[in-house]
Amino acid sequence: MDLWSYEGKRCLVVGCHSGIGEATARELIRLGGEVHGFDIKPSPVDLASFTLCDLRSRADIDAALAGIDGPIDALFYCAGLPQTFPGIEVVQVNFLSARYLVEQTLPKMRRGGAVAIIASTAGNGYVLRLPTVTELVQTPDYDTGLAWAEQHLPELGDPYAFAKEAAIVWGMRRAQTLIGQGIRLNLLSPGPTQSGMTKDFEAVSSPAIIDVYTAPINRRSSSAEQAYPLIFLNSDGASYVNGTNFIADGGFTAGMAMGMIDLDSLLQKAASA
Ligand SMILES: NC(=O)c1ccc[n+]([C@@H]2O[C@H](COP(=O)([O-])OP(=O)(O)OC[C@H]3O[C@@H](n4cnc5c(N)ncnc54)[C@H](O)[C@@H]3O)[C@@H](O)[C@H]2O)c1
Repeated sequence: MDLWSYEGKRCLVVGCHSGIGEATARELIRLGGEVHGFDIKPSPVDLASFTLCDLRSRADIDAALAGIDGPIDALFYCAGLPQTFPGIEVVQVNFLSARYLVEQTLPKMRRGGAVAIIASTAGNGYVLRLPTVTELVQTPDYDTGLAWAEQHLPELGDPYAFAKEAAIVWGMRRAQTLIGQGIRLNLLSPGPTQSGMTKDFEAVSSPAIIDVYTAPINRRSSSAEQAYPLIFLNSDGASYVNGTNFIADGGFTAGMAMGMIDLDSLLQKAASA
């Protein structure tokens, strides 16, 4: 068996119009996968099927999934919205709809299948407010989650960071139970990556501030460089990898944890540049 091949595997890539999802779909096809895609905008990739789907709408998610036959071997949730969108939509696409779509896809997934969700190093702070994040993550369904988010958004700070924290915490928790069905679930947390949302991030912070978070590698990731670890997480080569928040940030998080990156002085330097 070729551990890295996707030959004969039915893959679903959610968020395949641009960026990491587009790169993931392209690479999966190169690896032999049968790749189906959902997005709110058309995909430039030559997919086995593409379905227009607005992830802010559960009816859209249900209709899109109804059009895909099982068994699905690998689910890649790559869709996301930056902070330039209304906070509640950011929480929907980056967390609530991810949770909903994964749960609705599971009945179509086979034992030995795998789910990979893109989070972000922007969610690294999840440990600092775990009880609050867990409150949202433990809401029993979409409507309760939406109501919780609407009520608490004003006190949560950056909705993008909070939604990414929620995706990480939910994913790490759900992996504990899902493995009992023979399905693995992991997260990928990219650092600054050139993609469709780069212009949005640069409108919120400056390019120089974003580049601070590329220390120590000192360059941004390409979308393909995030697709590769994501594809690994859902491959047979990762058969013992479950509940992991895989950080692909060029070493930034490790540098912070080791006290080897002086974030404050780098930010000051970037702000005055
Ligand atoms: N670019 C970065 O620096 C960076 C860093 C860390 C994490 N991420 C995360 O990576 C993931 C992929 O983003 P990207 O960087 O490739 O950006 P991107 O904007 O190129 O990709 C996001 C995709 O989500 C789709 N999408 C957005 N709203 C949707 C909706 N309502 N319904 C259906 N599809 C929708 C977009 O059309 C697009 O295809 C996101 O979760 C993002 O938060 C990005």
